[in-house]
Amino acid sequence: MALQDFVADLDSLLADASRAFASAADATALEAARIEFLGAAKGRLKNVQKGLGSVAKEDKPAAGKRLNEVKAAVEAAFEASQQRLTSAGPAKKAGPQFDPTLPGTPLRVGKLHPITQTIEELKEIMGRLGFTPADGPEIEDEHHNFEALNIPAEHPARDPLENFYVAVAGKWTGNRGQGTGKPLLLRSQTSTVQIRVMEHQQPPLRVISLGRVYRPDPADATHYPMFHQMEGLLVDKQVTMADLKSVLRMFATSYLGGDVHVRFRPSFFPFTEPSVEADMHWNDRWIEFGGAGMVDPNVLSAVGYDPEVYSGFAFGLGVERLCMRKHGITDIREFYKNDVRFLQQF
Ligand code: FA5
Repeated sequence: MALQDFVADLDSLLADASRAFASAADATALEAARIEFLGAAKGRLKNVQKGLGSVAKEDKPAAGKRLNEVKAAVEAAFEASQQRLTSAGPAKKAGPQFDPTLPGTPLRVGKLHPITQTIEELKEIMGRLGFTPADGPEIEDEHHNFEALNIPAEHPARDPLENFYVAVAGKWTGNRGQGTGKPLLLRSQTSTVQIRVMEHQQPPLRVISLGRVYRPDPADATHYPMFHQMEGLLVDKQVTMADLKSVLRMFATSYLGGDVHVRFRPSFFPFTEPSVEADMHWNDRWIEFGGAGMVDPNVLSAVGYDPEVYSGFAFGLGVERLCMRKHGITDIREFYKNDVRFLQQF
């Protein structure tokens, strides 16, 4: 092969490669061009290089020198294009530059759940009537949930199917057999806190307790298996049913407005005597919002108070139902669906 033919092949290869690398629009196109010109097995440079063997012996040094120059130039053209694509790439991906003059993105600020807000409001109203908040555990023993509240072992409210029993701790024997643990349950009412307070404090007392209670009630528009109650307890000398009715009426008009109609229906609770249910009028019907009554003398004696000296009243109100009437919510399940569109209205 004549030297000038060999050199001409190299020159046209260099021109083609430089053009292909320069016009590669992205990394894939550049890689395809690299394989075409610099590919180790079938690249065009490899192919032209094969012609070196047939160049006359005396021309070989010049041909070899030119081959090395062209090889270096093709590689440099490839690297230049590689550089061009990588430095352009990230800038394209980064998108528009930060503009400090644009208005900021507002932060999403959370809110207290409507039931939490209601609890704060109820505490505030009862605080004005002299009631201070007290707390008790949500996991209770049978003594505080039933026995101290005058609810005997055979009472239907103690049926395991009416309660969420969770565990046992220590030895126990009872009408359901015996075992090595004391039954524990999720409290079914906040009346447990009445007992816990009276065990540790002497009258006069005025306390409220707001918290969760649990019952295996099927969920419907006014029932949920987990709900909140506000318990109230007042013990003093010469407390009468008139005091109970006044406090509940005052509470209802403060929270629901002066036009609310409240009625008291005779009822029964083992720990109060006499007992009532309190109803509020709403949408042409009566909705029960709580139970109440005069603390049963047995309960007072069991905590060491003298029922001849002290009397008291107690009540337990459904927090969800009060909140529902106030805000016109017709289904209790809305509170616990966690739909932000509902919750953010409060
Ligand atoms: C009691 O729980 C008694 N401990 C109340 C009481 C306290 C009486 C102190 C006397 C003295 P009752 O089971 O009726 O009573 O429940 C009280 C209120 O809780 C009901 O009026 C209702 O407003 C609410 N409530 C009861 N069950 C549910 C439920 N599944 N879902 C939502 N609210 C409920």
